[in-house]
Amino acid sequence: MTKWIRSAQILNKSYTCQHIQSKFLTLGGSVSQHFYYTLSYKSADPHLLTRSRLHTYLTVRFKWWSINSGTFFRGSDTIGPYISLWSSTSAGHNLIKACPSRHSHTQQQSQFSVVCNDECVQVSFADRTLKIPLIWLRDHCRSEKFYNHNTHQKIPQSGLSELDLSPAEICLVDNNSAVSITWKDGHVSKFNLDWLANNFYPGKLVSQSKRQYWNNEIVLEEGLQTVSYNDHMTYDDGLKKSLTNLVKFGFCIIEETPVSQSATQAVAERISYVLQTVFGQMWTFTSDASRSDTAYTTQYLGAHTDNTYLSSPAGVQVFHCLKHNGSGGETLLVDGFKALDILRSVDQAAFKVLASVVIPHEYKEQASGNHPGYHLYNLSPVVTLHPISGEYISLRFNPYDRAPLNTLSLHDMTTFYSAYDKLSKIISNKENELRIKLNPGTILLIDNWRVLHGRSSFDGTRVVCGCYLPRDEWISKARLMGLL
Ligand SMILES: [Fe+2]
Repeated sequence: MTKWIRSAQILNKSYTCQHIQSKFLTLGGSVSQHFYYTLSYKSADPHLLTRSRLHTYLTVRFKWWSINSGTFFRGSDTIGPYISLWSSTSAGHNLIKACPSRHSHTQQQSQFSVVCNDECVQVSFADRTLKIPLIWLRDHCRSEKFYNHNTHQKIPQSGLSELDLSPAEICLVDNNSAVSITWKDGHVSKFNLDWLANNFYPGKLVSQSKRQYWNNEIVLEEGLQTVSYNDHMTYDDGLKKSLTNLVKFGFCIIEETPVSQSATQAVAERISYVLQTVFGQMWTFTSDASRSDTAYTTQYLGAHTDNTYLSSPAGVQVFHCLKHNGSGGETLLVDGFKALDILRSVDQAAFKVLASVVIPHEYKEQASGNHPGYHLYNLSPVVTLHPISGEYISLRFNPYDRAPLNTLSLHDMTTFYSAYDKLSKIISNKENELRIKLNPGTILLIDNWRVLHGRSSFDGTRVVCGCYLPRDEWISKARLMGLL
């Protein structure tokens, strides 16, 4: 028989469980009141420890009504504990009986505990606990009735908020890897626990561990990770390396590319179709002031993100310097998310202003020649965060394209300018800036929602070609490769 080491904390007093008797546990001490308590136990059986691996401790919280000698759980209909009995053998411990009471249910197994009340199911994993509302579970039912597995689309349920969603029965199934819920209307929903962990967890956009925020020192210590044109174009692993760098650092470099616009386009289209913008698809620019943008000059260009005047800025910017027969013209990069982390750590209030205040950006171009003229305009906050996790989604920072500020009250204006100045100083701090001299054959791809770009002033003739890639498509490709 398995021996257990266990203890209980009841009303701030510690009790040690004496031993396991057959299928029942006995708690040392005598208690007969209504209260919450926490029971922690650890298997001393090596086999169970192996089974549990990271989950050697299992903590269960539930309401307790009374403890009688020789009885593990005795439930109260009025308080509503769930009654469950577990057998423990050398082969593991198994739920042998589960009796839902009127108000709540509890189930447990070696890696999870599942608690249900009238409003939510609480699933405790080793690293977190999810409180999943019953209405969410019903809404996300993956049965054939409510989900088309061929099209991966929901079959909408109407009147969800009016349904009585207190489950008639809830139990662990499939070797305790899934929760089955029988609803009052007789419908049965089954949820794999891993699926719940992956899909309910709020804020699961990009694992922070897959991003590495950098400043000049960090990125140079890491060494610039480059991928050859041949690897990028020929092998899945090469493309995966390019996208890994793009996810991790917010930029990637492709080397040994043929010096042409068509090769640049091929590199870009290996990731996604090229975005059509007011600048066309593939563009080539030089300092001829042919378009209404500072990029078409020889002037210094401070770090910024592009397309802040669009409702959805381009996801990736592609640069390839085809020719430069002069000096200067280094490309500068700044990790916008690192800059935001710095601001957040030194001035939380300023950070909050930039994440909440909405400001306008615009692109204006007079009609002339082949250009029909444009006035693009967008209102957005400088920083967009995930509403639950606070994870960075995007940074829009382009002092060049800011439109007349007409979205703020007098008070908000003062706080906005102060916050914007603080972020600007962090962005222009040389410690946060990486400078790269792009030579013909080297293509730079930049995550335009995260990394800012600029360039030093230059002389001579400098010809750069490039394009934009849509955000959703490159993220989709990265997701399909398991990078997000
Ligand atoms: Fe730009």
